[in-house]
Amino acid sequence: MPDTRSIDRTQEYMARLSTRNLVIGVIGLGYTGLPLALAAAQAGFTTFGYDHDAELCAQLNRGVSHISDVTNSELRATRAADLFTAVPAPGLSPVPDVVFLCVPTPFGQMPDLSYVRSAARSVAKVLRPGMVVIAQSTSYPGTTTEIVQPLLEESGLRAGQDFALAFSPERIDPGSSGWNIHNTPRIIGGVSEESTTLAAAALGAVLGDPALVLPVRSPAVAEFAKLLENSYRLVNIGLINELAMLAHEMGIDIREVIDAAATKPYGFQAFYPGVGPGGACIPEDPLYLAWKARSYEFDTRLIGLAAEQNQGMARYIFVRVLEMMSKRGTALGGSRVLCIGAGHKPDIADTRHSRSLRVMELLAKSGARVDYSDALITTVEVDGHEHKNVDLSTANPADFDVIVVLVARENLDLSRFLAAGVPVFDAAHALAGGTQVEHL
Ligand SMILES: NC(=O)c1ccc[n+]([C@@H]2O[C@H](COP(=O)([O-])OP(=O)(O)OC[C@H]3O[C@@H](n4cnc5c(N)ncnc54)[C@H](O)[C@@H]3O)[C@@H](O)[C@H]2O)c1
Repeated sequence: MPDTRSIDRTQEYMARLSTRNLVIGVIGLGYTGLPLALAAAQAGFTTFGYDHDAELCAQLNRGVSHISDVTNSELRATRAADLFTAVPAPGLSPVPDVVFLCVPTPFGQMPDLSYVRSAARSVAKVLRPGMVVIAQSTSYPGTTTEIVQPLLEESGLRAGQDFALAFSPERIDPGSSGWNIHNTPRIIGGVSEESTTLAAAALGAVLGDPALVLPVRSPAVAEFAKLLENSYRLVNIGLINELAMLAHEMGIDIREVIDAAATKPYGFQAFYPGVGPGGACIPEDPLYLAWKARSYEFDTRLIGLAAEQNQGMARYIFVRVLEMMSKRGTALGGSRVLCIGAGHKPDIADTRHSRSLRVMELLAKSGARVDYSDALITTVEVDGHEHKNVDLSTANPADFDVIVVLVARENLDLSRFLAAGVPVFDAAHALAGGTQVEHL
């Protein structure tokens, strides 16, 4: 039963939340942190974003965004209203009432939680009773209570008693036109019931809709749910990539198969073959789960197999291009290849773990000259080699022996190239068929 002191504290906090009389802090102003900080400022909270990168802070304070989902005009409006300020970390000054941790969690041979640790230590230095801490960085189940909580408690305060602590996984979908921070539901789990309530209220106010925030029993449930979401994608993409390879052997168009299966109104979700998932999430997040599973002597075999299958797609596409060209009597070595798309998915300027770059690398290593076309990614250097970015509307079709579509793009128009007889290998199923187009 909550004591009266805690009820008073909760009521005061809720009142300050509804009058926007609370300061919001966001540690890490990258792909996830900056949109969240902007949402908090747009919701009317005085918001401070803390980032290690002092140059980035200066740039943001000038109103120049580095994230395509945040426009300069949005940023400038919050700056003009004096609601958003980027502050060079590590110090958290001014001290926020509610702080979100949005720092990276890369995976090398094992989870790298150094950024999470350093952010938690910064919070511990300024922690005071009544503060609400919400971790968002993707990690294995147990990270909030095993890593973040003990670091925060070095302050002498207790999580769930003196301050609230919760985990809410980020669900941002960079580059998506339909789903954004204001319409994507979020789950949240605190170390105590009160922690969940206080953190969920803050997150709901920032998102602009409390109904978007769905409480779960614990931080571990929320952490595991994030990894389930991304493992589900990894495994299903791996499956469809494997079946696309089989369908090719059998002379069956996998697209037609997927469309046929998708007529079933229940129990089936369509996934499409491609170069393999990239970005910071799908290739890496399941590895967090696999790593943690090993401490329970548990082998997450499906995750391992799917990751391997997806990894292999770049080489498979390379071989298919090689075969397509040799069927046409052209050797790949010495040929001129134009790759469409360099990012890890359509319409984003992010090449992290982009498997398109691996295909370009394999093609270049076989002796081809490899140019690419991507309006959002202006420079690409792979293995010390800089590739030329080509404008499709002005490029001369006669300069190319083959086009390889790696990432779909809206309104992709290769008609001039097709009319000039340039063959296309379409690994993204971006084009309708035709005698010159071969699909993955
Ligand atoms: N990018 C996505 O699409 C996405 C989606 C869902 C979840 N996530 C997860 O969100 C987390 C953050 O990812 P991101 O893509 O926003 O990272 P990012 O690399 O885009 O940005 C992180 C920022 O944090 C800063 N930083 C690092 N340590 C810091 C510290 N101790 N104090 C202050 N600033 C610090 C860096 O300078 C950088 O600007 C990761 O766990 C990631 O897996 C990312």
